[in-house]
Amino acid sequence: MQKIKAALLGYGTVGQGIQEVIHQYQERFRLLLGKEVEIAAVLVQNPAKQRDLPENVLVTTDFEEIITLPDLNVVLEAIVGEEPALTYLRRSLNKGIHVITANKMMFARHARELLETARENKVHIGFEATTAGGTPIIRTIDQLLQVNRVEKVEAILNGTSNYILTAMNDRFIDFDTALTEAQEKGYAEADPTHDIDGTDAFNKLMILSQLIYGEQPDWLNVRKTGINSLTEADIQHAKQENKKYKHIGVIKKEGNTIIAEVSPVLLSSTHPLHHIDGVDNALAITSDIVGTITLTGPGAGKLPTASAMVEDLVQIFQKEHAEFYEKISEKHAAV
Ligand code: NDP
Ligand code: HSE
Repeated sequence: MQKIKAALLGYGTVGQGIQEVIHQYQERFRLLLGKEVEIAAVLVQNPAKQRDLPENVLVTTDFEEIITLPDLNVVLEAIVGEEPALTYLRRSLNKGIHVITANKMMFARHARELLETARENKVHIGFEATTAGGTPIIRTIDQLLQVNRVEKVEAILNGTSNYILTAMNDRFIDFDTALTEAQEKGYAEADPTHDIDGTDAFNKLMILSQLIYGEQPDWLNVRKTGINSLTEADIQHAKQENKKYKHIGVIKKEGNTIIAEVSPVLLSSTHPLHHIDGVDNALAITSDIVGTITLTGPGAGKLPTASAMVEDLVQIFQKEHAEFYEKISEKHAAV
């Protein structure tokens, strides 16, 4: 059977999730694509770490070994930070290799350039995992709301923050203990500062802005406050009033101006995002025809994030298949 040859950049929480899902559900790829997915190589930072990988998988710290692999079809990127990820993805696209990324910090800054590079090279870039973990928000907006105009999104976009707020509210545990739990469960960033100071939710909001409006607001005009601005007393006081603090991102357009903000907001029990607890994310998307749709699901973690990435993979290769046959039929029509 034909194979799709893939390389993983990063083998931490997300990378291991991808490997696990591809290994466990190979039959589904065969059925959906008529091909198997082969992970041929894995890029890591620390060569000394023990990896649970089949012997025939190349494990390397040198991206040159990845990019020069013969017949590489797709790179799935789950490393940390803006660089070297951006350089690696740029090079992959320019070589005609499809790219799938989970790296929101990098993509918030470089979405426009990478999407353009993909278009120029007639390849695809999947970024479902950058925003709301396993919840399929990118595809919903991009493909299922095409006639509609999205007017506003109000969302919980950081799983770690929501996990901490829920644990403090429901189990009366302190902030640091709740954060440690979120780290142990693989929800938090390698450096959790961006989870708790609002930067991670901000990055996701900028990706949504790029997707919905084709541009982003001036970052200096976006107010960004994290859950580290709250005290345990704030949370308990809210609870006594049957309210909850949730970390909310809002984006909308007023005239030609995009207005965005991320901050903790006190929600009454009638608000649709009040009951979204634990690691879940939720997005209330208001569009001009359909009204408000609310999408809820796991916002972080190994399998939800891997799920978003393999769904991107299937979609990319289904598109490639359709494009191939479109070209063939055009050729036949011309003969
Ligand atoms: P981890 O810290 O668990 O894993 C990171 C992996 O990347 C490790 O294997 C590490 O190598 C490798 N790595 C880091 N820097 C480099 C580098 N410069 N060159 C080569 N390899 C490198 O992170 P996660 O798996 O949790 O997250 C990965 C990415 O996915 C991040 O961008 C994150 O924001 C994003 N993401 C994470 C989610 C989650 O729930 N965890 C959800 C959605 C997105 P080594 O093993 O040698 O240390
Ligand atoms: N650290 C992120 C979060 C991972 O907790 O939401 C998912 O993007």
